[in-house]
Amino acid sequence: MSSPARETLILDDPAAAAAERIAGAVSKGGHVALAGGTTPRAAYERLATMDVEWVCATLWFGDERCVPPDDPRSNFGMARSALLDRLTGARPEVRRIEGERGPGEAASAYERQLHTAFGGQPPVLDLVLLGIGPDGHCASLFPRQPALEERARLVVGVARPGLPPWVPRVTVTLPLINAAREVLFLATGAEKAQAVARLIAEPAGREFPASLVAPASGALTVLLDHAAAAGPAEAVS
Ligand code: 6PG
Repeated sequence: MSSPARETLILDDPAAAAAERIAGAVSKGGHVALAGGTTPRAAYERLATMDVEWVCATLWFGDERCVPPDDPRSNFGMARSALLDRLTGARPEVRRIEGERGPGEAASAYERQLHTAFGGQPPVLDLVLLGIGPDGHCASLFPRQPALEERARLVVGVARPGLPPWVPRVTVTLPLINAAREVLFLATGAEKAQAVARLIAEPAGREFPASLVAPASGALTVLLDHAAAAGPAEAVS
C-alpha cells in the first residue's frame, strides 16, 4: 500500500499553526474533532486566546478514555480546562464522548450522535486533529488491533489500549477520519522523532496505524517542531 500524499511542516511553533487551522474551520461553522493526550493542550490554550467565531461550530472528540469527565485522564477534561472553560463569548456545540458509560455503550451512543448531527448523511468532519503515539497509534487506534479493520462503524470501543493509561477507550475509526475534509497530525518533542520518521518513511500498514490515515480529500498535514522532525533527516524533507 503506497503512502498517502501529505504536507509536512517543520515549525518553530506548530501548536500555533494547529490553532490557526482549527480556528479557520471553526469560523466557517465547521465540525472539528479534537485530539486527546498531552500534545494538543498548547494549541487549545492558544486557541482560547484567539478571536474566533465559535457559535456555529461543533466540537467532537477523536477518542476518549473510559473515565468520567473530571478524571485527570479524560481527554474531554483536558480540552475543557485548556480551551472550553476559557471561552468567554458564544460557545460551540460540544459533543463529548461519554467514556464513563463503558467502551461499547459510549461508542454506540457517539455513533448515533454523529448520524443525527449529519441528518443521516455520511458524516464528513471538516477537520480532524490527531496526535501520534510512540507506537504509531492515533486516536485510540493501536497497532494490529481489530479497530483498524473496521469499515462500517464510525466509532468503536477499545477494550485493551496498547499504551497507558490502561483504561478501555472509545475511538473514531479510519472510515470517519479518512472521510474528513482535512486531517492534521500534531507532534512535538524528541520523543516523537522515531514515530514521525516511521510515519514519513514506512509504507502504510497495520503495524503503524497513523500510516493508514489517508483522507480521500487528500488534505493531510503533519505539523512538527524541530525536535520531532529530528529523526533521519532525509525521511522528513
Ligand atoms: C489519547 C490520544 C492519543 C494521543 C497520543 C499522543 O487518548 O491518548 O488521543 O491518540 O494523541 O497518545 O499522546 P501525547 O500527545 O500525550 O504524546
